[in-house]
Amino acid sequence: MKAIELINELKAGGSASERTCDTIKAGDAEKELKKVGVSMFGTVEVIRQAKEWGADLLIVHEPLYYNHMDVIGDDPSPVVAAKRALVEECGMVFFRYHDFMHFRDEDRITEGELHYLGLRGRVEKTPYVASYLFTSEEPVTALELAQRMERDLHIAHVRIAGKKDGKSTKIAACFGTPGGVFELLRDENVEIVLTGEAGEWTLGEYARDAAALGMNKALIVMGHIGSERDGMRLLAERLQAAHPEFETRYFECGEVYGYTDTV
Ligand SMILES: [Fe+2]
Ligand SMILES: [Fe+2]
Repeated sequence: MKAIELINELKAGGSASERTCDTIKAGDAEKELKKVGVSMFGTVEVIRQAKEWGADLLIVHEPLYYNHMDVIGDDPSPVVAAKRALVEECGMVFFRYHDFMHFRDEDRITEGELHYLGLRGRVEKTPYVASYLFTSEEPVTALELAQRMERDLHIAHVRIAGKKDGKSTKIAACFGTPGGVFELLRDENVEIVLTGEAGEWTLGEYARDAAALGMNKALIVMGHIGSERDGMRLLAERLQAAHPEFETRYFECGEVYGYTDTV
């Protein structure tokens, strides 16, 4: 199978605008695939590991160059220049799989996160980009969810603002940095909001005050990587099962921040 054939298969059933970020960032689309790497971020370390393994294609969810469309232009940054040289010299095909991952009947990032969290329930779309309402079959508290994230999603430290011990079923799943996170937090029908990144001085304080005023409301901040990488983990598992003709490996990029007890 050629890289472009797998990419077209990954796009099937999804939708994106003409200005999608889901493009081949480097490499030859016609390359035959023997080894395919999957990661959340194409970090320098992940690229080195994938190259060492002999990957022909690296599928990543996020940009390589710190902006949504991977525009380099005449960026004078030495980091961008050195990373670009690494990307081009390694000979791998790089494909960003973002829009076609999220924008489909079932958002594959949300599906992966809920899958590895072991949560079952109903997922509904909201008016906001890549944010969903999840009704859990099992009532859970924010504390229980955060503990599960640390155990099963391997997030070093999950942060909770607001009520930790309120049994809840109405959960907003706002993985990554999607739209409408504050709107969903303010919605009186939402008890817990899960997100990757959030403004501490607005969303965090809103949740804290809501709980102090007696409301069942919590915000859980998982970190951007911690809140999305399990969608890519599930993708790698599915590619392994569906495509025995090439080898697939998931490359863990790790969380971006370290802590005094993890570094
Ligand atoms: Fe995403
Ligand atoms: Fe993201």
